[in-house]
Amino acid sequence: ETEIFSVDNHMDNIVSYQQAVDILKKGGVVAFPTETVYGLGALATDEQAVQRIFEAKGRPSDNPLIVHIGTKEEVDKYAVDIPEVANKLMEACWPGPLTLVFHKRAGVIAENVTPGFQTVGIRMPDHPVALRLLKELGAPLAAPSANRSGKPSPTEANHVYADLQGRIPLIVDGGRTGVGVESTVLDMTTVPPTILRPGGMTREMIESIIGPVNAESKTPGEEAPRAPGMKYAHYAPESPLFVIELDESIISEAIAILHADGKKVAVIGPDEFVPAEADWYFPIGPIHDQNAMAANLYHAIRQCDQTDADIILATETDLGGVGEAVMNRLNKAADGKRFSL
Ligand code: TXA
Ligand code: MG
Repeated sequence: ETEIFSVDNHMDNIVSYQQAVDILKKGGVVAFPTETVYGLGALATDEQAVQRIFEAKGRPSDNPLIVHIGTKEEVDKYAVDIPEVANKLMEACWPGPLTLVFHKRAGVIAENVTPGFQTVGIRMPDHPVALRLLKELGAPLAAPSANRSGKPSPTEANHVYADLQGRIPLIVDGGRTGVGVESTVLDMTTVPPTILRPGGMTREMIESIIGPVNAESKTPGEEAPRAPGMKYAHYAPESPLFVIELDESIISEAIAILHADGKKVAVIGPDEFVPAEADWYFPIGPIHDQNAMAANLYHAIRQCDQTDADIILATETDLGGVGEAVMNRLNKAADGKRFSL
């Protein structure tokens, strides 16, 4: 059975950490909070332990995992050919929601962390619980998001429980995560570096440190060959989700059309905008507040699954800041579908 341990982010809780460390050292998996989403961790140097992650999640095993480290210095143990621009990024952005992809050092990280890849994605999470766990463990953790494959990433311990209960021994509960979308994945093996997945560290922030970067894939549904995770269904709610323009009359009309068709409608959108006709409304933050929207998006998608809505409409937001990641996830949850009249 799955146990949930609550830890206070600012206190010692040595006992809970010890239990987590014991499980991990024996090759087990543990769910833990990071600043982005909850991760499902296993010793990155232990192939059997890593295999348990794929089994618990039902994740296709050709999709590489991110290696989490507790100190910046460790990066040299697992990666080679680290360019100078990467040092600048690590200095400015770690700990934080930025995963850097490097050429892999041979023979250290288990093969199945990066199946068939010569590269490895590494990040130092900015969360007291994650950092404490890594410190007590003294080893790197391979950790994807702690959801069942295809579901939205978990931003609360009870999301993890809903997806993985009975499949993992322990969830370390550190409360709600702050950023709410996953880390930005930046490939440092290209010149200039390439954003493989937009995320919690904004393009503006990255470019202010190292100048312009490439974007591998900006269009919804488009495949990014070097980020294999992009080709699978992602963040999918149980009912079909459509992205819709943030326009009161368009949304009212859409709801009217769907109602005439006998469909119940859930809407995800900004706080200020409450479409009276919607059967359910899940506000995710003040209009134009991209950070709030990122923090609340996955919870709102999971809330839609608690309703018997036949269709979900999610309002579009602009692409500045973390809005780029919000729209990337919404377009994936929608599988590229837009509702237009
Ligand atoms: O915020 C996050 O990144 C969270 C927390 C737990 O740290 N983790 C996370 O992991 O989102 P996951 O496995 O759900 O997503 C990892 C993404 C995938 O799209 C994968 O394809 C890409 O990173 N990735 C990992 N290693 C890679 C590599 N060597 N080359 C290219 N892409 C890589
Ligand atoms: Mg994931």
